Amino acid sequence: MAHAVAKATLGLTHPAQIDHPKISFAAKETDLLQWKGDMLAVGVTEKDMTKGENSKFQNPILEKLDSKLGGLLSEVSIEEDFTGKAGQSTVIRVADLGPKRVSLIGLGKATGPSTSGFHVFGESVASAAKASQANTVAIALASSEGLTPELKLATASAIAKGTLLGTYEDNRFKSESKKPSLKSVDLFGLGGGPELEKKLKYTEDICSGVILGKELVNAPANVLTPGVLAEEAVKIATAYSDVFTATILDAEQCKELKMGSYLGVAAASTNPPKFIHLCYKPQSGSIKTKLALVGKGLTFDSGGYNIKTGPGCSIEMMKCDMGGSAAVLGAAKSLGQIKPSGVEVHFIVAACENMISGTGMRPGDILTASNGKTIEVNNTDAEGRLTLADALVYACNQGVDKIVDLATLTGACIVALGPSIAGIFTPSDELSKEVVTASEVAGEKLWRLPMEESYWESMKSGVADMVNTGSRQGGSITAALFLKQFVDEKVQWLHIDMAGPVWNDKKNAATGFAIPTLVEWVLSNSSS
Ligand code: BES
Ligand code: MN
Ligand code: ZN
Repeated sequence: MAHAVAKATLGLTHPAQIDHPKISFAAKETDLLQWKGDMLAVGVTEKDMTKGENSKFQNPILEKLDSKLGGLLSEVSIEEDFTGKAGQSTVIRVADLGPKRVSLIGLGKATGPSTSGFHVFGESVASAAKASQANTVAIALASSEGLTPELKLATASAIAKGTLLGTYEDNRFKSESKKPSLKSVDLFGLGGGPELEKKLKYTEDICSGVILGKELVNAPANVLTPGVLAEEAVKIATAYSDVFTATILDAEQCKELKMGSYLGVAAASTNPPKFIHLCYKPQSGSIKTKLALVGKGLTFDSGGYNIKTGPGCSIEMMKCDMGGSAAVLGAAKSLGQIKPSGVEVHFIVAACENMISGTGMRPGDILTASNGKTIEVNNTDAEGRLTLADALVYACNQGVDKIVDLATLTGACIVALGPSIAGIFTPSDELSKEVVTASEVAGEKLWRLPMEESYWESMKSGVADMVNTGSRQGGSITAALFLKQFVDEKVQWLHIDMAGPVWNDKKNAATGFAIPTLVEWVLSNSSS
């Protein structure tokens, strides 16, 4: 094997240290019209924008604001044809009022948005604040009275999450960048007290995990090598050493554990592989459930000898092929802060690169995984499943009850579900329900796809136990069936194919996908 010590950063690139947004959120129950600050942002539905026969707003908050502004809101809404549609927004500079600016942001239909809709609302507030360089912002909904206390909590949390993540910009690789202006947000009409404070703290903990996840995926492969990914994992364990221990295995130790499938993928690379295992244990109390989160950690996927070529192969995007591992480590960071009880969690990543060299695996090679199964590699570009095979065997050996694995596994899943929905695969209806419920709370989109056993036919090999690539049709399903070969039947297991949602093409940036869902899922298995 050509493994040597990782070289000094290729291209002399060193990420700058950037400050993460530090926004203080406070719940306010005082009169909105008395508020003083840089910008008041009001979320309005299409229904809120309707006017009565006297051409005044029927919504009391808008009506009061409008009359204070001498009818300016009403004029602007007509001039700009602002009707409260989702995605619409307008900002007006006002004089002689508490706020310097008033912004109306459309929430769409009368019923108001879902969790993910309020998340988008928060992002719009963040961009309006950025555009006017506001430090202090107040956020209100024109109609929040009707919300139940639970819905108020969930809404406040989704808005805060959108505002925080919308304020964050990953400028680590730009030689110049501006610091975000937004410092404080007052939330009106969404309740208050210790319960809301706790929820907002929890939201901040999730966001810090999401930001870590985004930074890991945004970092290019010359900066984020498997060694650097392992260092990042160790940093989490060090920062929350009261609940985490870290184990990093090198190639030699993986060889002792007979991880031939994973090491086959790593064999071409000069940057050595690192097998990452973080273990979360609460400081006290008994353990009710043991979980594992397993993430695909290909810091770069060239395809290997089956090199990615041709238009649309996206080889230049393959730094994002460690999105599964970013989700796992992002969730670890959040959980290190939240510290749930009654649950033990193993975070596992078989990190490596899929490169090309004289020491690399060839198409046709036969690999032996750590559970003794043999694999004929008929395509070196189906490498993620080869690394996950040994990671899943390792996870089962930790004696866990349930495993969720996450991987940017197949282009076929993007074809099936598009860029913003992840595919999930599991033999367990129960685990499917748990994870889908968590994703709904988190405001992320998952869709269950079938594990059609008859498709295993195309994964049979003449010389080994299986091949690593089946027919082109149903490519995400055969990939999931392959993974199943490496999971104990006694363990409940669910696979998330997140090749689509890992990246946002419009924003040209990583999304931090799955981290909120994973945290919710772990908490739903905890006793606090
Ligand atoms: N990392 C890719 C999948 C991928 C594609 C992720 C596009 C993100 C965006 C994976 O390793 C891969 O190459 N899969 C192959 C499998 C095929 C060879 C069976 C694919 O999807 O083409
Ligand atoms: Mn590949
Ligand atoms: Zn890959």
